[in-house]
Amino acid sequence: MRRVSAHFLRPGFKALVAFMVTGLILPLVFSQLRFRSNKERDAWDRRSTYRKFIEKEGIPVHGGYVADLNAIELKPWKRKGGNGAYVFLEGMGEIADAWVVEVEPGKQTLPQRHLYEEQILVLSGEGETRVWQNKKDAPKITGHWRKGSWFAVPLNAWHEHVNTGNTPARLAAVTTAPIVMDIFHDPNFIFGSDHNFMGRFTGENNYYDPENARHYPYDETHGALTITNLERNTYMAPTFLGTQGVGERDRHFILGDNAMISHIEEMEPGTYQRGHRHGPASVIVELYGTGYTLMWPQSAGVQPFASGNGDKVMRADWREGVMVVPPVQWYHQHFPSGSTRARWVRIGGRIGNTLYPVAGGQLSESDRDTVNYREEDPKIREIFEEEVRKNGATLRMPPREELLEMEREAERLREGRWKNEEPGER
Ligand SMILES: [Fe+2]
Repeated sequence: MRRVSAHFLRPGFKALVAFMVTGLILPLVFSQLRFRSNKERDAWDRRSTYRKFIEKEGIPVHGGYVADLNAIELKPWKRKGGNGAYVFLEGMGEIADAWVVEVEPGKQTLPQRHLYEEQILVLSGEGETRVWQNKKDAPKITGHWRKGSWFAVPLNAWHEHVNTGNTPARLAAVTTAPIVMDIFHDPNFIFGSDHNFMGRFTGENNYYDPENARHYPYDETHGALTITNLERNTYMAPTFLGTQGVGERDRHFILGDNAMISHIEEMEPGTYQRGHRHGPASVIVELYGTGYTLMWPQSAGVQPFASGNGDKVMRADWREGVMVVPPVQWYHQHFPSGSTRARWVRIGGRIGNTLYPVAGGQLSESDRDTVNYREEDPKIREIFEEEVRKNGATLRMPPREELLEMEREAERLREGRWKNEEPGER
C-alpha cells in the first residue's frame, strides 16, 4: 500500500487548498449554479416571452393551420372577462396572434390597454366599444358594432367591449402582441404604460364615425385603399377590381393608423385566383361562400402534384368564421367552388403597410412570389373543375388558352388588372 506523504498535512498546504476551494472552485461552481437557475436557462426551451405569457392566461390556445372561430372551445378569461381563447396558428410566425372572446348579453369585458395593435372582427351579436385616453376624467368615446363590423382599438388607449344585444356577442381580434412583447420581454411594460399616442387618437368624439373614412382609388402601390377606424359591414363593403387573377376584387384598409396590413377580398363564383407565397401572419377569416384553400410548402415546388408531392398539399374548407393562415412562404391558392360569390377579410397581422413600411416591408411582403396561370400545376384546375361540378355550380374560368392570353395582356398593362371586367366600385 502506498503511503500518503506527510507534507500533505502541512499548514502551508492546507492554506493552499483552502485558497483554491474558496477562491477558484467555489466561485466556478456558484457561477454554474447561477447560470442554471437564471433566465438564460429558459433560452434553451425556445418559448418566447409571449408564449409563456399566453400559457399563464388560463384559457385554451388553439394551434395548427386553420381554426373555426365560431366553434373553438372558450373558457372563462379572468384578465379580460367573458369566455375566451387564443388562436396562435403556425403561419402567424410569432409576429401576430388572434383571440376570440364571447360576452353574454348585458355584460362587458374588463378595461384594458396595451402597447400592441389590435383589430377586431365581430363574428356575432351587437354592442359597443368604448375607448378613452390615459388621463384623469378622459371621456369615453363609443363605437357601435354588429355582426360583420371591423374596427381598431387605438394603441394603448383604455377600451372595453359591451354586449348591448340579446344574444352572446363573439369578437375575434388579430394583434401584434407576440412581436411587441418579445422585443421588450416585459409584460408589465406592455400593459402598464401611461403614454397617449396622440397621432393615433386624441380623444376625439368622432373617432369611430365611418363618415371620417378616407377612400383612395386604385393605384399600383396600394390598390383601392380606405383609411378609417371602423368599417360597419364587411359583408357589404364595396370592393374593386384586383390583381390576383380572374374574378378577384378587393379593397385594402388601414385601421386605427396601424402598421398592420388588411383588406377585404371577394371572388366571383366558378373562378379562382393565382397561387402565391409570402411572409408571415396573413390572417384571413371567411365571411361567406363555398370554397377551399390549398396550401403546400415551398419545398414541394410550384407544381406539387406533377413533382410527386401531392401528399404535401393541405386543404382547408371554408365556412363563415373559419380562420386560415398560410405558413410562412407556403404556396397557397383560394378557390370559390360554389354558386355564390365568396368573401373574406384579412383582419390584420402582417406588419408594414403603405403608410408605415415597417422594416422596409420585409416582414409582410418578404420575397412575395406569384404562380402565374401558365406555370400552374394542371391538377389544380382539374380539382377545381371537379369541385364546381360536385357543387352544381357553373365554371366561369376561361379556357386555358384564353386565360393565358388574358394573363399576358394583364402583364402588358403593367397594372396587373384583369380585363374581363371594368374597374370600379360594386
Ligand atoms: Fe396570401
